[in-house]
Amino acid sequence: MKFFIDTADVAEIRDLMATGMVDGVTTNPSLVAKSGRPFLDVIKEICQIVPGPVSAEVTATDHATMLAEGRALAKLAKNVAVKVPLTVDGLKTCKALSDAGTMVNVTLCFSAAQALLAAKAGAAFVSPFVGRLDDVGQSGLDLIADIVEIYEAYPHFRTEVLVASVRGPGHVVEAAKLGAHVATIPPAVLRQLYQHPLTDKGLAAFLADWAKTGQTILPAAPAAKKSKKG
Ligand code: G3P
Repeated sequence: MKFFIDTADVAEIRDLMATGMVDGVTTNPSLVAKSGRPFLDVIKEICQIVPGPVSAEVTATDHATMLAEGRALAKLAKNVAVKVPLTVDGLKTCKALSDAGTMVNVTLCFSAAQALLAAKAGAAFVSPFVGRLDDVGQSGLDLIADIVEIYEAYPHFRTEVLVASVRGPGHVVEAAKLGAHVATIPPAVLRQLYQHPLTDKGLAAFLADWAKTGQTILPAAPAAKKSKKG
């Protein structure tokens, strides 16, 4: 499973890139607004930090303007994935950009029917929002299961399921069990993935027992020589 980071906070992206766990980034207008920085600058900077796909969302709602915005965003860097909403105009724009070889991430997906259309439009990614479905009493993970089942029935589909609106490690693990290709994960949730109290407890116990042996794995550093001046 590929891990994308769901943020426009460049400092967070730099920090998590160092883990080697980051395969891409997704942003959206709300995340960009939260960053407080010019949109195009943020995307260009993220594309320089992360070699994988970086989603940048259009903000127009009509096809002609979405297409113009998408073309402008695609020119920022070769790893830009243009994000369009799952509307008729978004799908038209997805088709036009995909046919021209641009990576498109179709976002705000809330049904299997919508995901089927995104694949037919040639999207590189479809972003079902699992957390927001859970918020209204539906099952976001059931949607992931349905989309994976449909896509597996049509091997010529090249659209990857990019699980979005991830609210905790459970969403990531369950989506991975279902065979989703990507999860886009808020930084705080990514850090939760590797944290477990029993790991911390066990490590502390190992190190306490090791300390009692008085041994070191590497040769002990020579004691610093005292200067002649005293
Ligand atoms: O990538 C979409 C994600 O940012 C939305 O998450 O928690 O606002 O539903 P959330």
